[in-house]
Amino acid sequence: MPGEVQRGLEDVVALESRICFIDGQQGRLIYRGFDIRELAAGSTFEEVSYLLWYGRLPTRTELAGLRQRLEALRSVPEALSRELEALPVSANPMDVLRTAVSALAVFEPEETAPGPSSIGGAQRLTAALPTILGEFQRRRAHLPPLEPRPNLSHAAYLVYALLDREPSELEARAIDVALILHADHELNASTFAARVTASTLSDLYSAITSAIGTLKGPLHGGANERVMEMLEEIGSVDRVEEVVKGKLARHERIMGFGHRVYKVEDPRATILRGWARRLGEAKADLRYSELLERVVQVVHREKGLYPNLDLYSGAVYALMGIPRDLFTPVFAASRVVGWTAHVLEEYDDLRLIRPTSSYVGPTDLSYVPLGERG
Ligand code: ACO
Repeated sequence: MPGEVQRGLEDVVALESRICFIDGQQGRLIYRGFDIRELAAGSTFEEVSYLLWYGRLPTRTELAGLRQRLEALRSVPEALSRELEALPVSANPMDVLRTAVSALAVFEPEETAPGPSSIGGAQRLTAALPTILGEFQRRRAHLPPLEPRPNLSHAAYLVYALLDREPSELEARAIDVALILHADHELNASTFAARVTASTLSDLYSAITSAIGTLKGPLHGGANERVMEMLEEIGSVDRVEEVVKGKLARHERIMGFGHRVYKVEDPRATILRGWARRLGEAKADLRYSELLERVVQVVHREKGLYPNLDLYSGAVYALMGIPRDLFTPVFAASRVVGWTAHVLEEYDDLRLIRPTSSYVGPTDLSYVPLGERG
């Protein structure tokens, strides 16, 4: 007999993993044994990627090797660029990303085979996502694609591909930290989707296609774009109280707040809040920081909810000039590392993920032939 239904699989332990640990009571996030606060303070996205994929920190030579590999894998096939050109410029960039990963599997089938060799596909996808997003961004601005650039960190290349400019040192570090913070988060909805797909022994690119589709939703990665819409709606600090209370009275969710696992503030939000302020100070634009500070006070007072990562990521990206509908794709450009690390772990210890449901419909209806149904 099936057990009690846990709606949304809340608190259900689905599998064992060595990749990521969240202590929701203490507000701690651990990647492969290392506290996110230490990683955000001292490491780089490439180093964290190595850590998540290989399970340990790289030596300097190993890290240099990974950097080189990612740089070398930035170009995408001509055939994929042509596919992207066929998409309407009005397309949602998450749809473009999902379509591009799916199409890339057709052009590079050798990278997608399930098993340990999928590490090559993981690095390929990680390197290619900024280029794919950049090509789409250029196209909708009616500009020719940029040549992929070596000699830039992954974070700096992402900014270059999207904005056709190299970031300042502060911007490069801010985006690097944002990528580190987004790289993995245990069995969140998109990672679970990737693992479910991989557990059927389907290929890596199919798993990542599933994950991108899952991240797109506003209750998951899409929340960062909605936060910025809310800030726009609020407009000024003196309107925070009225707008937030109005939303709560209408039982609307306040985006960027609450979390299934964290019962205190999301540690990633704490770190990113600092970066949003630092960037704001450098650009003499503290509008977002001031609005967010007040929103946090009001939401906490009214609902007892704490901010999550998505509350601050939009401010960081907006201050750099990244278009709003690319916020969730930027999230994907980081999370692809976590997704692929989880898929590799799944291949390594594979068991088909197939839960069961509690059937609450009838079981004894009599079939009436169509002709007798009027
Ligand atoms: N605004 C208003 N109320 C909220 C919010 C919110 N952001 N989050 C939770 N609540 C309330 C719910 O209405 C519910 O209240 P009720 O019991 O009176 O009905 C209660 O808190 C519990 O909510 P659930 O939806 O059961 O909690 P769940 O664990 O399913 O939700 C979620 C987690 C989906 C993240 C939720 O907090 C939410 O919708 N937040 C806004 C979207 C968001 O910021 N998503 C980003 C998540 S982090 C990430 O993906 C990187």
